[in-house]
Amino acid sequence: MTKLTCLLPLFLTFTLCHGYKILLMAPIPSKSHGILCEGLVRHLLVAGHEITYATPYPKVKAHPKLHVIDLTSNLDLVPDGLLNVQKVMNKESDLAGGFTTVYNMIATIPRVTLEYEHVQKLLTDPNQTFDAVITTYFGNGLYHGLAALYDCPLIWFNMIEPYSSLLGLIDDTTNPAYVPSASSSNVPPFTFRQRVQELISQTLQMLLSELYLYYAQESDYNKIFTPLLEKRGRTLPPYSEVIYNASLVLGNSHVSYSHAMRLPINYIQIGGYYVNDNVEPLPSDLQKILDNAKHGAIYFSLGSNLKSKDFPENIKKGLIKLFSGLKQTVIWKFEEVMPNLPKNVHILKWAPQQSILAHPNTILFITHGGGLSTTETIHFGKPIIGIPVFGDQFNNIVRAVKKGFAKKVDLSYSLVEDLEEAINDVLSDNRYAIKAKELSLVYHDRPVRPGVELVHWVEHVIKTRGAPHLRSPALRMPLYQKLYLDLAALVLVILYGIRFALKILFARKPLKVKKN
Ligand SMILES: *[C@@H]1O[C@H](CO)[C@@H](O)[C@H](O)[C@H]1NC(C)=O
Ligand SMILES: *[C@@H]1O[C@H](CO)[C@@H](O)[C@H](O)[C@H]1NC(C)=O
Repeated sequence: MTKLTCLLPLFLTFTLCHGYKILLMAPIPSKSHGILCEGLVRHLLVAGHEITYATPYPKVKAHPKLHVIDLTSNLDLVPDGLLNVQKVMNKESDLAGGFTTVYNMIATIPRVTLEYEHVQKLLTDPNQTFDAVITTYFGNGLYHGLAALYDCPLIWFNMIEPYSSLLGLIDDTTNPAYVPSASSSNVPPFTFRQRVQELISQTLQMLLSELYLYYAQESDYNKIFTPLLEKRGRTLPPYSEVIYNASLVLGNSHVSYSHAMRLPINYIQIGGYYVNDNVEPLPSDLQKILDNAKHGAIYFSLGSNLKSKDFPENIKKGLIKLFSGLKQTVIWKFEEVMPNLPKNVHILKWAPQQSILAHPNTILFITHGGGLSTTETIHFGKPIIGIPVFGDQFNNIVRAVKKGFAKKVDLSYSLVEDLEEAINDVLSDNRYAIKAKELSLVYHDRPVRPGVELVHWVEHVIKTRGAPHLRSPALRMPLYQKLYLDLAALVLVILYGIRFALKILFARKPLKVKKN
């Protein structure tokens, strides 16, 4: 009772103080990652919180409660040509080939980010405090050190579908028999071959991160954060403890465009939170083009990382020819000017994607199938043709095809012919459009909007100091206990004991018989 009354005022000051100080550490040099994090910032600012936002995309709308830390130099950490369309087609890009480049980036980016002078200024300022740290998880746990430094809870943000190794940090790894890895394009239910594939690839990925990444991260963690904590007169908790100490994961996913799977209670799905509730009006010329598209409009964009200008010349020409033969209007996000365009083809250097998808005359979206594009297509209920290039795009598109609102076309030298066939197919068969509308209903039919949920859970974690009540009892439970191997051993011992006892009992009788 006395304990409770002591704690109560503490709890109240936490609850009543409006406007928390939150550090959003978002070092990944990918435009879509920038867009997602800006969405987090927007919702948290509207809720009255003060945000320190470290990002490679510092051109964010100014706000009195927003402090931006410029990480533009991280853009140089992406190797040249990694995302070049032609290189990917020729299988020359490291993304199509080995994982080494990706793993190097995972190991390097978070560490290099902490070494920048202006980030060091933030870290070494003894007066700096935060109520929570939010940071993107992509295979590196280094930023648990930030939560240790500011003695506050850590919230992971996950850009993609929930996956095994991330879930293992807050609850338990998933069963590869029905949950694909983050980079796989298998969609459950798996065939026998896919099940074996998943088992092998997920085991290899786990070994790679346990044997290679873990120790690199642990040594970075100790090297960077030990002196920082010493300065504040505290000792750094061991890495092996902090990596299982995140309070929550916010995931940009939703069952409407992913598959159903069970999730720990502190995994909160907020898919689509970053899409503006009120769609921005289209620029007047684009509005006119779309309004006048009597036969509907097709929107073609390969996202913000891949540039259409990297397409081989003959494919560019072939695409123009293909589009000119359509009666639909084509809006093409393309980075270079092209002469002698057919009347129905319009090229935009920058495209307000959400506003275009929201227009009722837009009837088809040709996309690389990135996470944002997949989300937005379901948000606005439009069918797609997917040309996946790397990473989760394959998974997104294969899933969309299985769900029935997409056709997949490979990025190959027969792209133009394949695309023509796919366009004819999707436009002549309204099942694709109907499915997209159905899934859009599933997507929008939630008890609360994802932005509201996001703010609620961040505040909940801060109010309850890390939400310890949400921690899964499965965390860090040894495998032998999960599999009841101790019980099995006990049962074996007992059985052997009984057998042994019986043996002795029965062995005695003949002995007695002999004596008699
Ligand atoms: C921290 O705060 C104290 C007391 O307010 C002040 O004297 C000191 O200069 C501050 N240190 C820095 C690095 O801002
Ligand atoms: C784990 O997180 C809680 C709440 O965020 C915090 O109070 C605790 O100190 C952390 N433990 C370690 C070992 O970092």
